[in-house]
Amino acid sequence: MGKLPIVRTRAALRREIGVWRSERLRVAMTPTMGALHEGHLSLLRLAATRADRVVASLFVNPTQFGPGEDFQSYPRDESRDAALLQAAGCDLLYAPPVEEMYGDGFATAITVSGVTAPMEGAARPGHFSGVATVVAKLLIQGLPDVAVFGEKDYQQLQVIRRLTADLDLPVEILPAPIVRDPDGLALSSRNAYLTPAQRAVAPALYRRLIEVARAVAGGAPIAAAETAGVEALLAAGFDAVEYFEFRDPADLARLGPGSISGPARLLAVARLGRTRLLDNIAVAA
Ligand code: PAF
Repeated sequence: MGKLPIVRTRAALRREIGVWRSERLRVAMTPTMGALHEGHLSLLRLAATRADRVVASLFVNPTQFGPGEDFQSYPRDESRDAALLQAAGCDLLYAPPVEEMYGDGFATAITVSGVTAPMEGAARPGHFSGVATVVAKLLIQGLPDVAVFGEKDYQQLQVIRRLTADLDLPVEILPAPIVRDPDGLALSSRNAYLTPAQRAVAPALYRRLIEVARAVAGGAPIAAAETAGVEALLAAGFDAVEYFEFRDPADLARLGPGSISGPARLLAVARLGRTRLLDNIAVAA
């Protein structure tokens, strides 16, 4: 097996995808910021089941990081990522430099309203505009038939679904289930920041999500269950719980305070030191 082909310009990306198109092949794209783990590779494998060719993008997008966030220190190791991608079935890596994505005078931003307002949107001003703009650019640059995004960033997935529908992008958005360590911790590049003591506390987040989701699915009132969930996480050793909320699975409107009446999503962020652990699960009504 030769090395994974890498392109760094929009023109080269379009050329390669154009060749596949001329052969009537179906193309999938998996956008990433690198620092790949099994979660990303599962997106890639899912993409490979839905298309003849898979292109991954690797771009640490500066516009989705806030001041004081980890843009500078975000782990970057392209050759490791390329080897992992290739082993998972990737056919092409698109790894543009920042100047290729944001040329001189770049002045456009996409703002998705509604679904971006609560949770991550409230905690990270500007984050979703950065995500929406770069994802729109990547989808327009590659025009894949299908693009795969993980449910780990569930709010991001809903933002991307909204923008794809609103901008008439002819791309199917395919969600991929969360991949977890055996003890339940959702995989994330940022888990690497956890100390051993914090790592030991971390799986309690998923356990509480399951427990509280079950209680609500069984008829418990939502508001009281949310409060109990927050208290249980603090008791388990988390330093703070930013949110632990039942929401509509599509528009992310807050649910409760009473019993559940249809499908829902339970989304949470709990902090260990400076590390924010995100997780969420589907709730059957
Ligand atoms: O989820 C991510 O890794 C990023 O937000 C994405 C979708 C690649 C956009 O930069």
